[in-house]
Amino acid sequence: MTRHFLRDDDLSPAEYLQVLDMAAELKADRFAYRPLDGPRAVAVIFDKPSTRTRVSFSVGIAELGGYPLVIDAQTSQLGRGEPIADTARVLDRQCAAIVWRTFEQQRLDDMAAASAVPVVNALTDEYHPCQLLADLQTVRERKGTLAGLTLTYAGDGANNMAHSYLLAGATVGMHVRVASPAGYAPSAAVLERAAAVAARTGGSVAHVTDAADGFAGADVLATDTWVSMGQEGEAADREAPFVPFALTSDAVKAAARDPVVLHCLPAYRGKEIAADVIDGPASAVWDEAENRLHAQKALLTWLLAQEATA
Ligand code: CP
Ligand code: NVA
Repeated sequence: MTRHFLRDDDLSPAEYLQVLDMAAELKADRFAYRPLDGPRAVAVIFDKPSTRTRVSFSVGIAELGGYPLVIDAQTSQLGRGEPIADTARVLDRQCAAIVWRTFEQQRLDDMAAASAVPVVNALTDEYHPCQLLADLQTVRERKGTLAGLTLTYAGDGANNMAHSYLLAGATVGMHVRVASPAGYAPSAAVLERAAAVAARTGGSVAHVTDAADGFAGADVLATDTWVSMGQEGEAADREAPFVPFALTSDAVKAAARDPVVLHCLPAYRGKEIAADVIDGPASAVWDEAENRLHAQKALLTWLLAQEATA
């Protein structure tokens, strides 16, 4: 059966660590794996803007020996309403994998249902699982381990990053706290699924509405923009309730010793993160951005290896 990576928990805990191990290998030796030698093409489709995802998939696919076919949805028939399943059936006969950044998760699920090659989530409204592979690679580099660490994500608890922190953190046995205003809580279904995963891995998940409860003693502090792509019209309302959840130097002081500060970027200094925090000693954001490359190469290599052994 074709394996896809649509949500963080599409990989089992053991598989997730295998991918992170391969990501570390690929970081040490950029050309260790060449599963796309040929070159075979990978379609990388964007319904929303991107800098990091576009660059890291393009460079990564090339470094795996392949050809990145980057498609802007607006200039494709997908953007004019061609059925997603028809697009999948055209792409899977020519490409080794399909990577897609889109809106509703359902669109990605529809692509995967019709595709004979792996489909990878490059961000949806609900999840950003490739980002979490890079984030957890970064934490592992800094802390030497993942299981048992406390990770606090503070900000918009209802967005893609919050949901992916819950699912991915639970998968690797972390204690994940989402700290957000009450009106911006994670989806109950995601919290429930993450709790079920955490029960098997020894991790835990919690949603708190008091920022101080979130920051206290955390090993990892993460945040994201308060205004995700597609929410620009709500920007004025998406400021005051979030101010207590900003990653400031006080938040860093309240955390555990030597916390790791993460932000998927793009960052808005003075809003969700203070300049002296993102540009300060606890910040791992540039390693985190670089690790998108290594983690996604590992993911593609792993998914293609499952195809080969199926
Ligand atoms: N972090 C992230 O996905 O960045 P881009 O939107 O620039 O791809
Ligand atoms: N939550 C953000 C992440 C950007 C990488 C968004 O969806 O815009």
